[in-house]
Amino acid sequence: NKKITIAIDGFSSTGKSTLAKQLAKHLGYVYVDTGAMYRAVSLFAMQNGYIDADFFDKQSLINSLPFIKLQFKFNPDLGFAEMYLNDVNVENEIRTIEVSNFVSRVAEVSEVRKKLVEQQKEMGKAKGIVMDGRDITTVVFPDAELKIFMTASPETRAERRFDELKSKGQNVPYEVVLKNVQERDYIDTHRDDSPLVKADEAIEIDNSHLSREEQFDVVLELIQEVT
Ligand code: C5P
Repeated sequence: NKKITIAIDGFSSTGKSTLAKQLAKHLGYVYVDTGAMYRAVSLFAMQNGYIDADFFDKQSLINSLPFIKLQFKFNPDLGFAEMYLNDVNVENEIRTIEVSNFVSRVAEVSEVRKKLVEQQKEMGKAKGIVMDGRDITTVVFPDAELKIFMTASPETRAERRFDELKSKGQNVPYEVVLKNVQERDYIDTHRDDSPLVKADEAIEIDNSHLSREEQFDVVLELIQEVT
């Protein structure tokens, strides 16, 4: 079977990464979580005091971009790659609600997007890749053989994110999680540079009422059609 590129976009907490990981494992492909890259840049901005609730020093972040090194390193014990920021494993730090609250503002900055998109295109050159994010079907790999747009109701998504945070020991109230999900949806779909939109040729999957297995089977069939 020929190796293809699978591009997945969608709102936050639609289960994109769960599906992408399943697919990568099944196909022997590389999985790239581009949200982790935007999260790591946001963490860098927080660590250096460039962003706060009511303040964002964009220019300092832009000036620092050449000094931000992002890498994925496969962890064989976990079976997936973890995010490294300047050689430090930040996989846990980037998943906190604090980072979630800032990341969409950082992702609005064109200079940030340019740097990350370049790196993402490079990673996909060899094909055999599953990449998820907000602009993968439209900007990073508009020519991907398979493009998927995932949706689910905001409440379903907030419940999933709430459970995920809880399982990691972060007891954030459901209302706070729902608000974060809705705010990110708004910013991600309304920004000037690479807003989240469904590409014309992307296949929409609403998984509000699909189990992981059902969703996986649907996508495997789609893959068979294009390979
Ligand atoms: O996928 P995840 O929820 O971790 O992404 C975090 C945030 O990063 C998104 O809400 C969005 O603002 C930004 N993002 C983006 N483009 C991508 C991936 C993520 O703007 N390709």
